[in-house]
Amino acid sequence: MCGIVGYTGKALALSPVLEGLRRLEYRGYDSAGIALVVKKGEPLWIEKRAGKLSNLEDSLADTHPDAHSGIGHTRWATHGGPTDTNAHPHLDNEGKLALIHNGIIENYVELRAILEKRGHVFKSETDTESVVHLLSDARKEHKGDLAAAMRDVCGQLRGSFTLLAIHSDEPGRIVGARRNSPLVVGVGDGENFLASDVSAFISHTKHALELGQDEVVDITDSKITVTDLSGKVLKPREYEISWDASAAERGGFPHFMLKEIYEQPKSIADTLIGRTAGLDTEITAGINLEGISKVVIIACGTAYHAGLVGKYAIEKWASVPVDVELASEYRYREPSVDKSTLVIPISQSGETMDTLMAMRYARTHGARVFAVCNTNGSTIPRESDAVLYTHAGPEIAVASTKAFTAQLIAMYLIALHLGSVRGVIDKKFVSEIGIELAQLPAKVEQILETVEPLRELTRKFKDSGSMLFLGRNVGYPTALEGALKLKELAYMHAEGFAGGELKHGPIALIDQGTAVIAVMPTSTSPLYEKMASNVQEVKARGAVVIAIGDVDLESAAHNIRIPSSHDFLQPVLAVVPLQVIAYEMAVARGNDVDQPRNLAKSVTVE
Ligand code: G6P
Repeated sequence: MCGIVGYTGKALALSPVLEGLRRLEYRGYDSAGIALVVKKGEPLWIEKRAGKLSNLEDSLADTHPDAHSGIGHTRWATHGGPTDTNAHPHLDNEGKLALIHNGIIENYVELRAILEKRGHVFKSETDTESVVHLLSDARKEHKGDLAAAMRDVCGQLRGSFTLLAIHSDEPGRIVGARRNSPLVVGVGDGENFLASDVSAFISHTKHALELGQDEVVDITDSKITVTDLSGKVLKPREYEISWDASAAERGGFPHFMLKEIYEQPKSIADTLIGRTAGLDTEITAGINLEGISKVVIIACGTAYHAGLVGKYAIEKWASVPVDVELASEYRYREPSVDKSTLVIPISQSGETMDTLMAMRYARTHGARVFAVCNTNGSTIPRESDAVLYTHAGPEIAVASTKAFTAQLIAMYLIALHLGSVRGVIDKKFVSEIGIELAQLPAKVEQILETVEPLRELTRKFKDSGSMLFLGRNVGYPTALEGALKLKELAYMHAEGFAGGELKHGPIALIDQGTAVIAVMPTSTSPLYEKMASNVQEVKARGAVVIAIGDVDLESAAHNIRIPSSHDFLQPVLAVVPLQVIAYEMAVARGNDVDQPRNLAKSVTVE
């Protein structure tokens, strides 16, 4: 969702700002804009365009404004359509103050009414424009001090925001603020950056500062000041970024998504390193895992599906009841939670608003929080008692792949750890599963080596109106994830069902030629035969079945073989062909693979 970049330093600002926006494209957006301070006291230089960043770049051809500070934004529309006018930055009526924003200003209607009465003229339909006019007035009240004005304005806003502002009276100065929306500082040599996440400035500096809730940051090329809203100076936590810029490049693949699918052997292995015999005390030091009566897993989208798989493993290996909750439902339900509840938020970005809010709710009601996250220094791990980081590296494609399989690994590791702490499983069992886990990277590699015929097969279904996915036990959340991937990428109707539920309704959807993907249980599972019967039932009604399993299923029209594994670990393998199907279908249908329409990578509004 909206990407934010600010640059101040010795370089001509247009280039690092554009580069930052390009690196933030993966978040999902539908318009882009830039404002630069060219001449002190004069109206700002500004360009904004609806559509992809390339539209903005085309309009800038051969433009090199002599500016050393500026801000840039990619907007994911919430209030007002994705037009040139609604694109950020927004200006005050003098054209000297520019503001960009990620999030939602909930009281913008009342602010707009007040500001219009004061004579401000609005140009856009956005919630953001109220803030720039408010900031303009506040700056005058604070005698031209932009940071003081920002603190004042933040106190008057309801909702969530990252804000960055520049004023042409003060070239080289950028002021930012955040509440429930991400903002990080990149500390360079004679230059400094502000951005939604570190990937925006990773090729310039790996030194970053973390900003807390309701903090205001004021930067020039040589100075960074962080305060709270009362103006008290704070010392932000510093950290080094371990990702390198090349990790965020496509590396020869036509799309980031395909690259990330192929990175899974490594991201799974990295997430497992040093953890198969039990979790390090460094990870669990902040949390007491004894005396837990219930586990609640909270997540959205793909991460929710990882949580559903986690439920099977945790209930079986740790013998504790598990609820898996969609964060957006959980947070508004006033669910019963107390100090014997262990909450596990799962989030690739660590910034998903619904997950964060649901977790905060649980925390204020006494729950212990053990996060699973892929992004170091993001808000969810910061507000948790303990965190198990997945080491999937930067995931750029909007549709999640390697983060998902890494989240599955995290779920198994937590299940084993909880089982050990609770005395349900012994060391021998942990080491047996540990051996199985350690074999997964090579097994995924094997699947990827033999994926070509599947790509060809997928293209045959390119014009299908819909695809159904069936699974049982851990194969059920895998089916849900397969259907979600296809919806996201191919814009095709797709649904996942539990095999046993078929007869209770979904079977009515089956018609001559309906494509059904069956995620078969491992051939040694007692559920294998049950699922084989479900396949017979749909086949008898005309379905064309593609079976994914460790043996061939005779009744299937097509078989996709995956290596055999422990039952619970099978989703890590079975999901790989499903990711490839969704990828290939998107390519075949001419869709934007890495940035599917209407979607955002990091959903920082509710
Ligand atoms: C968005 C993304 C999904 C992701 C979900 C949760 O919807 O498009 O790919 O699964 O958010 O994101 P998180 O960062 O919390 O895992």
